Amino acid sequence: MNYKNIIIDEKDGIATITINRPDALNALNKETLEELTIAIKKLNDDKKTKVAILTGSGKKAFIAGADIKHMKDLTPLQAKEFSELGHNLTFLIENSKFPFIAAVNGYALGGGCEVMMACDIIIASDNALIGQPEINLGISPGFGGTQRLPRIIGNIKAKELLLTGDNISAKKAEEMGLINSVVESDKLLETVEKLAQKIASKSAVQLNFIKELVNKGLNLDLANACALEISYFSSSFSTYDQKEGMNAFVEKRKPIFKGK
Ligand code: CAA
Repeated sequence: MNYKNIIIDEKDGIATITINRPDALNALNKETLEELTIAIKKLNDDKKTKVAILTGSGKKAFIAGADIKHMKDLTPLQAKEFSELGHNLTFLIENSKFPFIAAVNGYALGGGCEVMMACDIIIASDNALIGQPEINLGISPGFGGTQRLPRIIGNIKAKELLLTGDNISAKKAEEMGLINSVVESDKLLETVEKLAQKIASKSAVQLNFIKELVNKGLNLDLANACALEISYFSSSFSTYDQKEGMNAFVEKRKPIFKGK
């Protein structure tokens, strides 16, 4: 499939999704949200992807937000549909069978921060600026910012960012626990690719199980979340990868997982 606003590159179980609107700092218009949705659904259906990397083209921006020029004249109904499109995309990322690493190569603002927060691991370059500046446009966040941000960094810090609309540096975001780590700009892709290769060498079944357990468990009380862990743990013992992993340990060799 030919996309206009994104580039998909697949190699050795690693799918790199690049948002490619550098002239608009990779802002998310309706078409880009639709293309991302189609592409990620396809990666899930194809069952070849073990890890996905999400990044933006150019050196300046990961995603500078939802596209303001697209949103400017929307009717309330169109705004609702646009917001739903963004929310559906974040849930699609969260519910994908494989983990997503966000390679945040610059601005991650508004919708960019919201898509970033749906990813499983977030590595940013030292020039990245992150925030939810929607308040400066006279709107509230529309792709989950008021909900995921407090869940990740806590109510008080989240409200400060949401109410001031201030952007924070990647270093500050790391200190707040909003992202995993910061690397030099020209080492970002190399670092993320190495991490993706490491994760891709693991059992695809367990990448799926662990992601699902953490995401589902966060929305459950502890007892129910632990019950879910018991059921996933026990079903792990029906897999080839459990036998391979444990036999390899006993035989003092590296396991070769097959994702089954
Ligand atoms: N939407 C549409 N176009 C955007 C954009 C956005 N979010 N962000 C940047 N662009 C465009 C600019 O309009 C400009 O295009 P033109 O050359 O055609 O004028 C181009 O990208 C380059 O941008 P700047 O000239 O502004 O670059 P800069 O280096 O001076 O500033 C910036 C960079 C600080 C990121 C600035 O572009 C900016 O503030 N962008 C808007 C950020 C923002 O408010 N994001 C939140 C959007 S609302 C949202 O996301 C709602 C939601 O939750 C769903």
